[in-house]
Amino acid sequence: MRFFKHLLTSFLIVSCFVSNAQNKTVLSIQTDKPIADIQPTMWGIFFEDINMGADGGIYAELVKNRSFEFIKPLMGWKLDQQPFKEGAITVLAKQGVNLPNPRFLQIKLNNATKGNLSITNEGFRGMGIKNGLAYDFSLQYRQPKTGVKLHIELINAAKEIIGSTILIPTETGAEWHKQAIRFNATATALKAQLRIWFEGSGTIDLDMISLFPTDTWKNRPGGMRADMIQLLADMKPGFIRFPGGCIVEGFDLANRYQWKKTIGPIEERELKINRWNIEFAHRPTPDYFQTFGLGFFEYFQLAEDIGAEPLPILSCGMACQFNSAELAPLDQIDPFVQDALDLIEFANGKISTKWGKVRNDIGHPAPFNLKMLGVGNENWGPQYIERLAVFQKAIKDKYPQIKIVNSSGTDPDGARFDSLNLALRKMNADFIDEHYYRKPEWFLQNANRYDNYPRNGSKIFAGEYAAQSDKTVSVNNKNTWLTALSEAAFMTGLERNAAVVQMASYAPLFAHIDAWQWSPDLIWVNNLQSYGTTDYYVQKLFATNKGNKELSITQNNAVVSGQDSLFAAASIDEATQELIVKLVNVSSAKKSIIISLNGLKSFASIGKVLQLQNDNLQQTNSFEQPFLISPKESAIEIGTKNINCSIAPYSFSIIRVKILAKK
Ligand code: AHR
Repeated sequence: MRFFKHLLTSFLIVSCFVSNAQNKTVLSIQTDKPIADIQPTMWGIFFEDINMGADGGIYAELVKNRSFEFIKPLMGWKLDQQPFKEGAITVLAKQGVNLPNPRFLQIKLNNATKGNLSITNEGFRGMGIKNGLAYDFSLQYRQPKTGVKLHIELINAAKEIIGSTILIPTETGAEWHKQAIRFNATATALKAQLRIWFEGSGTIDLDMISLFPTDTWKNRPGGMRADMIQLLADMKPGFIRFPGGCIVEGFDLANRYQWKKTIGPIEERELKINRWNIEFAHRPTPDYFQTFGLGFFEYFQLAEDIGAEPLPILSCGMACQFNSAELAPLDQIDPFVQDALDLIEFANGKISTKWGKVRNDIGHPAPFNLKMLGVGNENWGPQYIERLAVFQKAIKDKYPQIKIVNSSGTDPDGARFDSLNLALRKMNADFIDEHYYRKPEWFLQNANRYDNYPRNGSKIFAGEYAAQSDKTVSVNNKNTWLTALSEAAFMTGLERNAAVVQMASYAPLFAHIDAWQWSPDLIWVNNLQSYGTTDYYVQKLFATNKGNKELSITQNNAVVSGQDSLFAAASIDEATQELIVKLVNVSSAKKSIIISLNGLKSFASIGKVLQLQNDNLQQTNSFEQPFLISPKESAIEIGTKNINCSIAPYSFSIIRVKILAKK
């Protein structure tokens, strides 16, 4: 922070020097000579199942460990018997080789009445229950004969019943059956639990015990949490990268993300430990597993729903190099490569193809129109380049139009980055994925990072970035106005270099307030609410105000990248015929600015300003004040040749003006 103050002071000194007689900063926009296309993909989102982003997050399942496949099979469950009877509840496994979901619960009853025997699920740090909302309870069961009745209850923290129903399994025999029932909640609770009392006599086997709210995204049964997805849709992201992140690589190769195991009936999707379960000793999350209730089909569907290009990232045959760093030998890499080729066929293939048919059978005959694919997440070293070369050849031979996203490692500088950058450019890599988790000062100092990048050859995907108020992986990191403002300044530099930077995404995306491993994050949630951080509103403003043609905006013929504490970018949106100007003021002083409009365009006399501002750089949004720092709209007068504006201290402003016609 001391350094940031110093940096601001030096900007202020520059400010006095460059300002004109009226103490106004003059910026010039050449309005009729676009300098680059801004890609529709420019601002996107990065999704990973970290911080309970998927299970316990966007995946709206409320029951934790629904199929008893966690390492401890009864984790998340509490068994209650009055009086206790040995052997009344047991965990058994279905017989067979490599079954994806072998375990189940067996209940034996002898004249049980309600109050004798129950199982209770605690949910993911409780279950968020809403008064009046309908919930879908379901399970799989088998029983030799009928005779068992299930009393389903939602209970709040005070142990009061806030919703109940009765389910009587009707089918008998050796086969598994599914039965479901819908019931309403009678009160709201942030941390409810699900209790099932058993009544009657007999033996019943249970599996896939599930509870979903009915108000899911697009009301899809077994779907996603609508409030969280709405926040994503509101950003109008150009792409969605999934499923990560380090989760792609896995702690070891056995635990890597394998997309083929994440499609089809959910009871056949093999659960895996989440690598964030064990990653940080200071943030242990022993109950964090991946059920894959959300799998690749659902992620493609989500991309389609929110109008984002899908960007799947696959294992390159290297496990996380922070963990085991296990390598698939180069001569055994084919199955990994085949996974990539099959994924392209799954997404784009005709329904007459093997994997196109799988997509069709799931219910999506139309292709997903996949255009790009990531090979490896944060992988590095000659081992990565060797493996990448095999993927590149196979993918380009069969699908030359597919763009490949390639890793430049963990850091945006240093020997590792330099050697990867060199090697990738030699390979004519389509996209180089750069990651920067850095202090706010770094973001200010690096807003001109891409000004001198080569215009030809590989394009940049700023795949993971977030300003760290403390330091990377520190639990003290916060989403402050300072982090967001410094990102906004940096992002003007990305947009000013749209010829080079074609995609960018903040990371990580979601965090559950009671179950996070990594901070800061774009969106914070509890079991009932979600809110966008200061950083979220910066991302959203950029994404919803990007335009499609970059214009030059200069101060004394130089790009506006920190002089006078200002950062700027300008563009035109040809679809709406608007000029869009972005201005970031990182100083504590108000700025008087004249924007000189040069070129053959004329403009409406009134424009619109969208502004994020706060005088306190440490300010954060919160569950209590989710919109404390969020865009405020106002009008601005536009002159025939210029815009006179006063830019508030510590602010990010966007001016939108209608283009009327040529002068
Ligand atoms: O975003 C959190 C992690 O940061 C990602 O999983 C990884 O790619 C990076 O190190």
